[in-house]
Amino acid sequence: MTKKMWRNEVKYLTPYVPGKPIEDVRRELGLDEVIRLASNENPIGPSPVALRAMSEALKDSWLYPEPSCRELREKLGVKYDVSADKIIVANGADHIITLIGNAYINSGDEVIYCKPTFTSYREITLLMGGIPIEIPLNKDFEADLNGILNAITSKTKLIFICNPNNPTGTVVKNDELESFLNQVPDGVLVILDEAYAEYISINGYRSGIDFVKKGYPVITIRTFSKFYGLAGVRIGYAVSSEAYLEPLLAVKQTFSVNRIAIAGALAALDDIEFLNKMLLELYEEKERLTIELQKMGFVVINSQANFLFVDMKQEVSTLFNKLMKKGILIRPCSPWSLKTFSRITIGTFDQNNSLINALKEIQQEMLSVK
Ligand SMILES: Cc1ncc(COP(=O)(O)O)c(C=O)c1O
Repeated sequence: MTKKMWRNEVKYLTPYVPGKPIEDVRRELGLDEVIRLASNENPIGPSPVALRAMSEALKDSWLYPEPSCRELREKLGVKYDVSADKIIVANGADHIITLIGNAYINSGDEVIYCKPTFTSYREITLLMGGIPIEIPLNKDFEADLNGILNAITSKTKLIFICNPNNPTGTVVKNDELESFLNQVPDGVLVILDEAYAEYISINGYRSGIDFVKKGYPVITIRTFSKFYGLAGVRIGYAVSSEAYLEPLLAVKQTFSVNRIAIAGALAALDDIEFLNKMLLELYEEKERLTIELQKMGFVVINSQANFLFVDMKQEVSTLFNKLMKKGILIRPCSPWSLKTFSRITIGTFDQNNSLINALKEIQQEMLSVK
């Protein structure tokens, strides 16, 4: 079938290429074990309490889920000290981004975001017939907030800020966000994608949730995919004023969030001891991996997420292929036109050791060829 029958906007979309599935690499290369450090998943997985809650929920699989996710919204409301009516739950943060696009972007509307960043902002803008306005990150790979402000026109509808940014791990600091939001004109909605917020360890970070509480025109996006280790069951949420969430509720499919995911998310929030321990382990591994990569001559940008953004000082594609043959997947940043950079998810102690050893072996092999 030709593309003639397709909706015009769909013709210009390129399907998102996620980290290569572990199953494909196993099959293609005949490997028993594959370590994926390419998709910013949490290799420790969900808390045992969440696992138990999910298996318990399986027996009710024949029942449609409770569509408003009230219990989860109430629990999140207590956590953030906001009313449950200011929260919407969806089938992952990506689904929230889709709902925002469906609800707000008219054909011809301009949508501003910095580049490189999470590709869904571009895709949903194009799908809705909007115009992506891409502002390069500054030289420190941070969002160029002045650049965004200067790009605002009468056609601007949305601004996306990925905070921490994927793939760089950088954040908007201190009072910069407040001053930025104060300069955004009426009629423009700011979307703060905080998929990695739980990993932030610096002082001076302000979450969009604070600004929602103060009545700013902001939608803050969060997910259970990363910190809570629930990427496979698909659940995320947004916090905003009721008025900004109303059109999202209007376009959302009624039963898009399943029972298993709701049960897992509710229980995952409770297991504070597990979450704290996991975070400490991640910080230790992040520091250790950073030092090891630096020793190998790579430049590691200070990331506030569960991944490192690394300048490998050579075309990453060669390294990527050599690592893949050894059963390790990292994420080359070439789709963002950063040919020498890669994004590496921080794995477990053993996974990181495998990566470090594999990189050392590859460096040795390359030296002996020279
Ligand atoms: C910045 C950012 N936003 C949203 C998502 C989507 O998350 P989810 O798994 O909740 O759809 C990701 C996933 O990698 C991400 O990096």
